Amino acid sequence: MGENPLPADGGRRLVGTRRLLVAGALGVLGTATALAASVPAGAAAGTLGAAAAQSGRYYGAAIAAGHMNDSTYVATWDREFNAVTPENEMKWDATEPSRGSFRFTSADQIVSHAQSKGMKIRGHTLVWHNQLPSWVGGLSASDLRSAMTNHINNVMGHYKGKIYAWDVVNEAFADGGAVGTLRSSVFTQKLGNGFIEEAFRAARAADPNAKLCYNDYNIDDANANKTRGVYNMIKDFKARGVPIDCVGLQSHLSSGSVPSNYQQNIAQFAALGVDVQITELDIGGSGSAQADAYRRVTQACTAVPRCTGITVWGITDKYSWRSGDTPLLFDGNFNKKQAYTAVLDALNAATPNTSPSPTTSPNTSPSPTTSPNTSPSPNTSPSPTPPVGGACSATIETTNSWPGGFQSTVTVRAGSSAVNGWTVKWTWPSGQSISSLWNGTQSGSGSSVTVSNAPYNGSIAAGSSTTFGFTANGSAATPTATCTSP
Ligand code: G3I
Repeated sequence: MGENPLPADGGRRLVGTRRLLVAGALGVLGTATALAASVPAGAAAGTLGAAAAQSGRYYGAAIAAGHMNDSTYVATWDREFNAVTPENEMKWDATEPSRGSFRFTSADQIVSHAQSKGMKIRGHTLVWHNQLPSWVGGLSASDLRSAMTNHINNVMGHYKGKIYAWDVVNEAFADGGAVGTLRSSVFTQKLGNGFIEEAFRAARAADPNAKLCYNDYNIDDANANKTRGVYNMIKDFKARGVPIDCVGLQSHLSSGSVPSNYQQNIAQFAALGVDVQITELDIGGSGSAQADAYRRVTQACTAVPRCTGITVWGITDKYSWRSGDTPLLFDGNFNKKQAYTAVLDALNAATPNTSPSPTTSPNTSPSPTTSPNTSPSPNTSPSPTPPVGGACSATIETTNSWPGGFQSTVTVRAGSSAVNGWTVKWTWPSGQSISSLWNGTQSGSGSSVTVSNAPYNGSIAAGSSTTFGFTANGSAATPTATCTSP
């Protein structure tokens, strides 16, 4: 819990002030969802979707069309959630069971219900080695390439303008092996590793207004090899202009397995310039252990402005794909579990989302979920930029703040020569202290701060930059920082 910037009372004392800020923002924007608008100033929201909407986020659930005849299931979905992901209905085997023959009946059922309730819809998923109809396996390389593009065009085309974010490629990375190893599949075997890039380029062309996500499991630990592989791919895509807008952390977890660096992980992906969505959350366990794990995951998301929403992989333990683990927020009788209350409280305690969620492509329209900067931040001007010309320079910028704490991003820029290793130092003016740091290594403590590069971001090309970030206690400050390189 070291990375939690909220006070020990779960942030409840922040609620009144925050509601007023939100209410003010709503007045200005006039575009927030009805759910958010229905929460009176000073009151905590009573449902997951309404609570998430207060900080500009969504809270969704995976829904199976086959259960929509269960009226309690649908009533719980409608009451608690403001987003949805079809659990199986948009997958390749469901939408194109034989080549060129498309079927959308089940997915349409979910989409039209969601639209009638004003929910956000996540599309899941276009290119995945699993739930792939058998005809795909028999294609030649050139046939597979055109079948993949055709599938993306038809499925995205059918839902054009209705989908908030698509999981364009799902689970392409291997669980073992060196950093960056892809899982062997029909796609890697016939198209090579470039199939991911090809899929994203085709997806951008098919629906320029949908956010395009890479989605995977076991990428929750900031330092795991699989995580590093996905991180490197996104960094490479951003550097080369391959369209990508978001990463989905599936987060199929157990009570004891939420990584201690989970928030850092979200922050390190966000620092690459993509949104982060928790896409398939479920946490095996029960009682207070499960509730604590759900609370930590929720707080980790709300602490990072570009973590734009959470989806749980089902509503009730009864219908969960891992029902034996009782991993969801409602029990088999749709009763709220302890974990439900933990999530609701954490969402209610979140500060407004200040991320402008910049879009990376001129073709991508601004996301309606991400609200503009709604909180007054008197201390957000960056520290003065030191003259470049030496080995490196560093600039501190406040990216979020709340009573008693703040979040900053530090940009480390190489001068006229490349640097290989860097150290940034500054002195806090009034007793601030770092509570959590990512993409860097801190040494010492007290008012003098020293941060050196992490193992993976020490090399910066001439004139280029990298960033690290932290949350801190105290009032937001942007002291002048120095940077040295060995
Ligand atoms: O609908 C048929 C039914 O007619 C048949 O009688 C029955 C017999 O087994 O199968 C039913 O289909 C099952 C389907 O879920 C609907 O319940 C499939 O067998 C079963 O394989 C399928 O499992 C889905 C699984 O993906 C497939 O890989 C789960 O529901 C779904 O929750 C799960 O979701 C995945 C995400 O898409 C990607 N990330 C991991 C996640 C969990 O595995």
